[in-house]
Amino acid sequence: MRQLVALLALCIGPIFAATAKSPAIDSASFDANVKPILKNTCSGCHNPTLTSGGVNLLPYLDSATLADDRASWEKIYQKIESGEMPPRGIPGPRHRQAPQPQ
Ligand code: HEC
Repeated sequence: MRQLVALLALCIGPIFAATAKSPAIDSASFDANVKPILKNTCSGCHNPTLTSGGVNLLPYLDSATLADDRASWEKIYQKIESGEMPPRGIPGPRHRQAPQPQ
């Protein structure tokens, strides 16, 4: 799980740095690397029905929000990089897909 989160921070970092300098967003890279993890790992607790901490992350599955709503992305990035999110003990996608013992 920690590895997955580190990977996510690694993926967002460069995209983030790039958008800080220019409005050109690497949306292909975002869709390939960031979106699936955000969707699988975060949206379970941050969606329109369950807005943990008042946060709905579904709108942020759209890479356009990187430019439109940088303040929120900074918060998201910080949470991931600091290891605060996802909370400890939350199984990652890999765990959920693992075969259960019979
Ligand atoms: C098990 C449920 C759960 C998962 C999974 C989860 N969160 Fe959270 N999140 C919470 C709760 C509960 C809070 C509010 C309490 C807090 O801030 O610690 C929160 C708060 C937040 C906040 C707002 C913090 C603030 O200071 O306003 C952000 C941003 C956030 N989460 C991002 C994420 C991201 C990004 C992921 C995926 C990597 C994620 N969360 C995964 C439960 C979850």
